[in-house]
Formats: sequence, structure tokens, C-alpha cells
Amino acid sequence: MLLSGQTAVVTGASRGIGAATAKALARHGAAVAVNYFKSPEAAKAVVDEIVTSGGKAVAVRADVRDEAEVQAMATEVGKSLGPVDTLVLNASIGFPVVPFLEFRWEDFEAKLVGELRSAFLCCKAFVPGMVERGGGSVIAISSGLSRHPGQGFCAHSTAKSGLDAFVKSLALELGPSGIRVNVVAPGLTLTDATAWLSQEAKDATARSTPLGRVAVPEDVAGAVVFLASDEARFVTGTYLPTSGGVQML
Ligand SMILES: NC(=O)c1ccc[n+]([C@@H]2O[C@H](COP(=O)([O-])OP(=O)(O)OC[C@H]3O[C@@H](n4cnc5c(N)ncnc54)[C@H](OP(=O)(O)O)[C@@H]3O)[C@@H](O)[C@H]2O)c1
Repeated sequence: MLLSGQTAVVTGASRGIGAATAKALARHGAAVAVNYFKSPEAAKAVVDEIVTSGGKAVAVRADVRDEAEVQAMATEVGKSLGPVDTLVLNASIGFPVVPFLEFRWEDFEAKLVGELRSAFLCCKAFVPGMVERGGGSVIAISSGLSRHPGQGFCAHSTAKSGLDAFVKSLALELGPSGIRVNVVAPGLTLTDATAWLSQEAKDATARSTPLGRVAVPEDVAGAVVFLASDEARFVTGTYLPTSGGVQML
């Protein structure tokens, strides 16, 4: 139990990496706000699983790109769970996977703005409370593609590298307030977001992965638990790949 007595918010926690992260944080004793956008049933299932296992969780709807909805979420979480110690910026902002020459600016812009706006708004909503209490942890789920390009992924790479820079800036500015800000950078992880990839492509990634397989959401969740915990008390501004060794820094 690394997180007894703590409270965490996980954006985009109805499915995939966010759902696994919410459950892992709860297993370690945190009360968890499970943010969702369009999947209330899936969010309820995550909450039910946590509560059935003896944990504490609530589902909170908000489009994390919308300022009023993010503020309303912060108010709701404050009322139901109290002050927040850990904020996980995980919600997946969609994008088309197409070559640059076919990319429309509108789609590129929507990914860039959505990724950065959601991180900005959520930090604006939850970090002031951390500053007031003199501590907290923010963990942004970036991507290995923020540092290495992938065919068709120019919007995702650009948006996530912006997120990485945002994290480092906040780590610098918020360190004196006892707030740690870090990146977890998954490689290919089996979720709905990667279901469109062929089995052949997944197998090829597994073969080129030193640990011999692609990730499941729980692999990423473990890194988040570590960064949220006091075991990572002197770790800030860092970039932690969870790619089985595909990405070595
Ligand atoms: N899967 C990978 O291979 C991989 C690799 C590197 C990085 N990542 C990153 O990991 C994170 C999670 O990805 P995933 O693969 O777990 O995605 P996923 O399985 O597709 O799940 C996406 C989650 O994001 C939520 N979401 C989407 N738009 C939202 C919005 N505007 N406001 C609030 N929530 C929103 C969804 O909620 P609803 O269903 O309720 O709408 C859902 O819970 C993302 O930041 C992604 O870029 C994933």
C-alpha cells in the first residue's frame, strides 16, 4: 500500500491505460476519481471493481478540453473525495494516422490544442490545491513517439513532445512547492486505441522489444503508481519509458 490516505484523479480512466491506472492506484490505497467522457458504463465498471475490492472511487464526467467542465470536475472531486494529491493526465486525444502530405491543418491543430489544452486546464484546476498544501504529484502520459517519429504520427509526436516540455516547465516552477511533475512514456500498449493495428504489426513490435512482448495497460499503471508514491519523492521532471526496452535513453 504505497498510497494510503491519498486521493488521485485519473483523466480518461473509463478504458485502457487510464482504467488500469485507476485500479492500480486504488489497490495501493488511494481514493480515485475516474474521469470519463463518452463511456459512463465503462467508468461505472471501473468504480464498481475498485469499490468491490474494498477501495474508494467515484466516476466524474468531463471533457478535459473544456474549461467549465474541468472546473466542475474539480469541484465535484473536492466535495466527494477531498483534496487531490495525484493528477494523472491520461485522456487520449484522438488524431488521424496519415502521412504529413495528407494531413489537414484542422486535424493537426485539434490534436495539438486538445492535448495541451487538456493538460493546461487540468493542472490549472488541481495544482493550486497542491500548492496550498505544499505537495503533490502530476504524471502526464506521453508516448515514446514524443522523442522518436513514427510513420503517420506527426500530430501525435508533436503534441506529445509539447506535453513533455510542459511537464519540465512545471517541474521547474512547482518544485519549490513540493510538487513533482513527471512523464510516463508508453510504447505500443494493447488498448482500444491500438486495436486497429494488425496482429502482424503487433508481433513485429514484440519481436523488436528486448522484453519480448508489447505492453498491456497494467505495465504503464505500475510506473504511474511508483511516480505517485513517496518512493519517488526525489524524482521530478523525468521521462520514464514503459516500452520493454524499445526506447532506451
Ligand atoms: N495505447 C498505446 O499504445 C499508447 C502508447 C503511447 C501513449 N499512449 C497514451 O496513453 C493515454 C491513454 O491511451 P489509451 O490507449 O489507454 O486510450 P483508450 O484505450 O482509447 O482510452 C481513451 C480514454 O480517454 C478518454 N477520453 C478521450 N477523450 C477524452 C476527453 N476529451 N475528455 C476526457 N476523457 C477522454 C476515454 O474516455 P471515454 O471512453 O469515456 O470517452 C477513454 O477513457 C493517451 O494519452 C495516449 O496518447 C497510448
